[in-house]
Amino acid sequence: MPGLVIVGAQWGDEGKGKVTDLLAEGADAIVRFQGGNNAGHTIVRDGEEFKFHLIPSGILHADKACVIGNGVVLDPHVLLGEIDGLKRRGVDVGNLRISSNAHLIMPYHVLLDTAGEVKLGKLSIGTTRRGIGPCYADKALRLGIRVQDLLDEKILRTKIRAALEPKQQALRELGVQRRKLRREGGEGPDAIADAPDPRLDLHTMTEEHVSFGHRLEPHIADTPRLCWEALDKGGTVLFEGAQATLLDLDHGTYPFVTSSNPIAGAACVGAGVAPTDIDEVWGVAKAYATRVGAGPFPTELDDDTGRHLLERGHEFGTTTGRERRCGWMDLIALRYAVRLNGMTALTITKLDVLSGIGTLRVAVRYRSREGAVLDRFPYHQSILHGVEPEYEELPGFDADISGCRTAADLPNEARAYLDFISEFAGVPIRLVGVGPGRDQVIWIGDEPDLRAA
Ligand code: GDP
Ligand code: IMO
Ligand code: MG
Repeated sequence: MPGLVIVGAQWGDEGKGKVTDLLAEGADAIVRFQGGNNAGHTIVRDGEEFKFHLIPSGILHADKACVIGNGVVLDPHVLLGEIDGLKRRGVDVGNLRISSNAHLIMPYHVLLDTAGEVKLGKLSIGTTRRGIGPCYADKALRLGIRVQDLLDEKILRTKIRAALEPKQQALRELGVQRRKLRREGGEGPDAIADAPDPRLDLHTMTEEHVSFGHRLEPHIADTPRLCWEALDKGGTVLFEGAQATLLDLDHGTYPFVTSSNPIAGAACVGAGVAPTDIDEVWGVAKAYATRVGAGPFPTELDDDTGRHLLERGHEFGTTTGRERRCGWMDLIALRYAVRLNGMTALTITKLDVLSGIGTLRVAVRYRSREGAVLDRFPYHQSILHGVEPEYEELPGFDADISGCRTAADLPNEARAYLDFISEFAGVPIRLVGVGPGRDQVIWIGDEPDLRAA
């Protein structure tokens, strides 16, 4: 299976990092193809936790090429921090490759993200405030700064000047907002609050980014070619999705989505490979559901069961530390994700979190405000916002399953729960997570032969 996409099947944080790390063992290259440091991918190895925001989750395999593809938006300051952090922990990052066409998240993007959210008030999306949306907006406006621009000071300065100019109005408003907030906080106007933000000074920004360029230069490469070469010699390339299907800009719960396309189809555009290079699509879903930020979430629980999932599942955002909203597994949404991504396999993570919760429920249809029964994910926002899920009840299990390593070790009820999901979604489950550790998994069927070429 030379080209394999790993994609989030729900609203993110399904455990894509862990699945990537596991499958990376047999891969030649691991490629991030969209999103930026809004992602937080966790890997636990021998009790040691690694959290990646930009660096692909294959980096702990020193012999694999780890690629930040052209579809990613990259905050160089964050990336360099991540590189330094890994080096301090003795991880070799020599195989990190960065597309020269990836767009840069600039300081003004981060400020605009916050300004936009503050301005929306109650209607805010609950973004990670990492500058993702404004950066993709500039890419579409053709005002973006790309990784390759870091290598030429003159071009960089010209491009930053052009990009900065149309933002002055919004940023001025942000300055006014800040001063207002400070005054409301009883601080009164002061010289610092009224001074121009040094992060937005053209000269300072240019100098700083030239120095980022010097540090990143050894990693900048022709990344599509790197993928082609691995694929053409029969190797395996993993495309590591960030965010997830229901956060997709086109197919998710718009406007409560991210600003990129996390679905499998985007791997081609975001990495520079052809649709015919993709052989497998593995969807990652939790055994229940979570969501961070605002937006519809039909199976959300606001009760003790929701609390159990939050606490037992440690459902706090990797990137922002926010509490994740928790609820039951939504099979209507999952079946939608299976079809949209063309999933060939499913991974169900965090099955261990369900033990001791009592009877399990999975949403198998929705009922609209008008009483219509819906067995497909609604394509109209107003309908989705108004649906009530209807559940199938399945027997729960109490045993601690974190030590199970084969399907036969699992309680019958846990196996029946997995079978129900797989049958409803119409796709085989190949991997089940029973704990955060990389060994805490159950392969169903043969372990894939992903030997590197
Ligand atoms: P990602 O963004 O999809 O990579 O997922 P995150 O890393 O944001 O969140 C998943 C969390 O669940 C991480 O803290 C993982 O260590 C943890 N995790 C992954 N798989 C399992 C599992 O099977 N059981 C448990 N209990 N935790 C898991
Ligand atoms: P991983 O890769 C969960 C959510 C934010 C917000 C919306 C838009 O770890 O699964 P953005 O900053 O992208 O403009 O925010 O998307 N969001 C995520 N939720 N996991 C993520 O990434 C997310 N990345 C963005 O909470 O609701
Ligand atoms: Mg995450």
